[in-house]
Amino acid sequence: MPVIIDGKKTASDIRKEIADEVSAMKDRGARVPHLAAILVGDNPSSVSYVTNKVRDCEEVGFESTLVRLGDNTGEDILMARIAAFNRNPDIDAFIVQLPLPSHISETRVIESIDPSKDADGFHPVNLGRMMIGLPCFLPATPYGIVELIRRYNIETTGKRCIVIGRSNIVGRPLSILLSQKGIDATVTVVHSRTKEMSCIVREADIIVAAMGSPGFVKADMVKEGAVVIDVGTTRIPAPGTKSGFRLAGDVDFENVASRCSYITPVPGGVGPMTRVSLLRNTMVAAKNRR
Ligand code: GUN
Repeated sequence: MPVIIDGKKTASDIRKEIADEVSAMKDRGARVPHLAAILVGDNPSSVSYVTNKVRDCEEVGFESTLVRLGDNTGEDILMARIAAFNRNPDIDAFIVQLPLPSHISETRVIESIDPSKDADGFHPVNLGRMMIGLPCFLPATPYGIVELIRRYNIETTGKRCIVIGRSNIVGRPLSILLSQKGIDATVTVVHSRTKEMSCIVREADIIVAAMGSPGFVKADMVKEGAVVIDVGTTRIPAPGTKSGFRLAGDVDFENVASRCSYITPVPGGVGPMTRVSLLRNTMVAAKNRR
């Protein structure tokens, strides 16, 4: 049977490590790290993500600020809020929750964030620095995945790794990280236009499924003994549950798990690690500013 990678427990261990560090900062009389978030509109997934991020801050002893703006907020208003956060010396790092309403340019918004306060690691300066292995803020989900792999001592050197999905926030940056010196995987990115995807994925020692298509990775696409990391978190209706929905991963877990050496569940796999990465980036931003 596979090892079920427990992202919830790993993230909780890391939060404890961060909380200990915050206590030590307080004992020295240092200011604690401060993470801010801007949420535009009331997309239920985004509200839930941001609420959890604020809760995480409280748990580790960070200060947090949440700014909520209406769905029809103009780009100029949002830009003014970002400029204020950039200037505010009390705020170490911040995020603008995505997706944004369609009348706002995500690219312009991301480019307007001070790279030294970019807790999400989405700014082109941070992505560029990551590309050439310089110190930077790493995007939260790739950072979380790499940390899970590291903490579970999963061998990556020379392994064939297939990343399914080429998004700017997961697939593409993760493919760069996995091929970097020290991780040393041989990485292929496949996407919606890839031909003969199943044949390619079947060759993988490590599969990262990050295209947002529930149950896409089926048992016949997975080599015996592969490591499977599921980044999918699609909300699908689940009548009879308290919330009325459940989170579905990109992997057909029920049928795939028995073929794997390691697999992440949804929920409780990558998701909690994404949130904790934000705290780690904020801690680094705070230290850099002190
Ligand atoms: N939307 C989905 N994931 C993320 C994330 O990691 N950061 C931000 N800002 N928005 C998101």
